[in-house]
This record gives sequence, structure tokens and C-alpha cells, in this order.
Amino acid sequence: MDSLVIQGGFALKGTIRISGAKNAALPLMCASLLSDQPLELSNLPRLADIATLGGVLEHLGVSITVDGAEDGEDPRAVGRTAILQASDVSTATAPYDMVRKMRASILVLGPLVARHGHARVSLPGGCAIGNRPIDLHLKGLADLGAEIELAEGYVEARAPGGRLTGGRVRIPTVSVGATENLMMAAALARGETVIENAAREPEIVDLACCLTSMGATIEGAGTDSLHIQGCESLGAAKHRVIADRIEAGSYAVAAAITGGELTLEDAPAEAMGAVLDALVQAGAEVEAGESGLRISARGVKLAGLDIRTDPYPGFPTDMQAQFMAMLVLAGGASVITETIFENRFMHVPELTRMGADINVTGSSATVRGVDALKGAPVMATDLRASMSLVLAGLAAKGETVINRLYHLDRGYERLEKKLQAVGANIERRPAEGLGKGLGEGPGESEGETQEQA
Ligand code: UD1
Repeated sequence: MDSLVIQGGFALKGTIRISGAKNAALPLMCASLLSDQPLELSNLPRLADIATLGGVLEHLGVSITVDGAEDGEDPRAVGRTAILQASDVSTATAPYDMVRKMRASILVLGPLVARHGHARVSLPGGCAIGNRPIDLHLKGLADLGAEIELAEGYVEARAPGGRLTGGRVRIPTVSVGATENLMMAAALARGETVIENAAREPEIVDLACCLTSMGATIEGAGTDSLHIQGCESLGAAKHRVIADRIEAGSYAVAAAITGGELTLEDAPAEAMGAVLDALVQAGAEVEAGESGLRISARGVKLAGLDIRTDPYPGFPTDMQAQFMAMLVLAGGASVITETIFENRFMHVPELTRMGADINVTGSSATVRGVDALKGAPVMATDLRASMSLVLAGLAAKGETVINRLYHLDRGYERLEKKLQAVGANIERRPAEGLGKGLGEGPGESEGETQEQA
């Protein structure tokens, strides 16, 4: 399959437009299942994950029409608009072949059972960043009255009498996906639902905003306590997907790691507090202005830092790998502690092959800064790990070849085009000859299940 070839060592300079947020867009698309009226979503990123979920939704009976700028050469073209309409739910089954491609497909469960009274969704497959169960989603739906059965790799949920009943749900561990699933389900349940220990991520607030436009009554979005008044039906709405704070954070690190200066147009600075604080602490200049978020590290030797991932507003686990790449080249030692997912240090062996000095003990990694990284062929194992290798490649001496690009294509819209436009020497090299047929493309099962984030 294709690879990315990077000649490192160029300081990036210029402007990158930040796309719509993948992790906001996925639940928003699932919200279309809650109504027979159209849901118009604009600023949707062009990503493999969006297309995959679109396929799952179409299978369930959602009609999807896509509009917007063509996928041309302009890296700053705006995102697409899609109209999703679930006039009728034609089947309540989301099959294994579709769900295994993307764990976020589990987000159809809540809306389906709430609207249709019944849902049968394949259990998501294994995942490269740890064992990611869905017990919290199921427990929450059971608290809303759903009868849940697990059989033959499927979860089957039924609402007695065809409708869920609002109630008090406490999610024991903060979970973004479980909060989203339950918020959507509660919007159509009978009576009031209170979700305690809810996730507070900006993507949750965006979903609440869209559900409110559809006619739902939700209070407390952005706090750990959500109050939702269920209603009988939801209507049409238009909603613009928020900008991707993780994409913006990744390019902010690209500016810092190359000693460059980037302006990130549309970057959601207000949702990036922990990441921007960490960049400033490392020595980068950060300034939010009219034209976007400016990050500069020109002439700066970055300093090491200690980072601990946490639910929002803490430091996001989805930025951990990218910061590790940066800290590998910082002065002194850094300690990175991952508290959200086990087994999320799979970029470490690859960074080490490029010359990094990293020592992992349990959920912590100690990074000792080195003077330089050397380009090497590397293999990315999940989405954000892939981005950390791109970042390391941009700063490394010589050539880095990144294989298994399908992870990056799942989560970064036109990555190489955006980076080329700000001075990176990066190109996509198509697979040739034999390798193409033998390769690890998205059609291979490993790639499809090793997804997420
Ligand atoms: C979402 C994001 C992902 C991000 C993660 C944490 C999407 C599509 N993905 O994933 O990019 O890294 O939030 O910010 O938005 N857990 C359970 N049982 C459950 C559900 C979760 O034990 O039923 C655990 C997980 O294994 C993990 C923790 O809870 O340890 C947080 O996971 P969660 O917030 O649910 O992540 P996702 O919603 O899957």
C-alpha cells in the first residue's frame, strides 16, 4: 500500500486550515437516526472514518447526500456538507463486517434502540490501543430500561413497549462514547434522564448543541451532570461540525518540533487549553488572534515536560503520541503518563528506531532528550501514533518512510497536502508491483480492527 516519504529538517512556515472534528462528526452523523427529518451537517471532514460510518448508516436506512467543494488540490478548501435522513429505519442490525472497521459504530446503538425500540449491533473488534469494552454503554442503556442480551458476537437491545424510560445514570468511569450514546438515547426516552459523571469534551457539547437544534432539551453539556428531557420525536436541523482540536494540536506540535511558525486557521483555541499550556511550558510561543492560532518555536530549544493524560479538560490522550515525538528532541527529561488507555505506547519502539531515548514502565514513559533523530522506515500502529511518526520524520535528519497509511487517512484530512503547503518535504508514494497485492491495506483485517482515536 501507499507510504509517506518525508525528507526532514525543514522549519514549517505558513497557514493551515483546520478541518471539522472527526470525533464530533461521528456521533453527529449517528444522531440522524433519531429523527425522520433531515439533518444537515456542514464542515464534515473528508476522512475514511466518515465514509465508513456513512456506509453503516446507509445500511440501516439513512439516505445520505453529499455536497460541497470538490476534493481538489487546494489544501484550504472547505469541508463538505451532507444531508442525512432516516425517514425509516430499514434494519436494526449493524453487522460485524461494518462495525469491525470502526469502533465508533457502536454509537448507533443508543439512537437505534431509542427510535426503533430494537437494535442489534456487532460487538466492536479488538483494538490496538488496548482492550476497549462497551460495558458502560450497555449499563447506561439498561438503566434507561433497555433489555440487553449478548449472543454470537452481537449486542441486542430492546426497549420494552418500544420506548426507553428516562432515569438516573451514573457512568462509573468517564467515557466519551458512553456519554454520547446515552445522551442520544435519552433524547427520545420517556421523562427525564440525569447522566452523572458525564464526559465534558467539546465534542459532547457539540452533540448537545445539535440535539437541541433538533428539538431536544439538554442542560449541563460541558459539565459532569447532564439533564435531558426526553421527547416523542425530534425534527430537522442544520449544524456545523466544530473544528478538530486534535488535528490543530498535531499541527501546533509540527510547528514546535521543526522550530517553525504556523497559523492554524479555525483552530478551536478555547478547547485546547491543556495542549497550549504544555506548548508554552515547553518554550513555544502561542497566540490566539483574528487570523487563527499562531504557534512559533523559531530559534527556541524546547524544554522537557511532565504530562499526564486525563479526561477533558485534562491533557488529551489523543495528543500524547505527538507530544512524545516533540519531547524526544527537547532538553532534559520528560515523563509522560497515560491514564486513559493501556497499551498506548506503541509508537515508542518506532521512535526509538529513529534514535529516541525512551523508557516505558507500566503506564509511564521517561523520555530523555536527544540532539537529533535520524530518518528510518517506520510502521504506524494506530492513528495518533502514525501522526507522531510524521512529526518525528519532519524533524529528523534524512528520509523517513511511513508505511500503513490507512490510519492517517482515517483521521487527518489531506495531511500531506496541508504539510506541503507550509514547506514540508513530504509526498505520498503509491505502492508498486508485488507489494500492492501483498500489502496491509484497509482490506486486511488487522488494519480494520486496529483502529480508533
Ligand atoms: C473517544 C474518542 C477517542 C479518544 C477517547 C478518550 C471518538 C470517536 N473517539 O473514544 O479518540 O481517545 O474518547 O478521549 O470520539 N471504557 C470502558 N467501558 C466502556 C467505554 C469505555 O471501560 O464501555 C474505558 C475505555 O477502555 C477507556 C476509557 O473508558 O479506558 C475512556 O474511553 P472512552 O472515553 O469511552 O473512549 P471512546 O469514546 O471510545
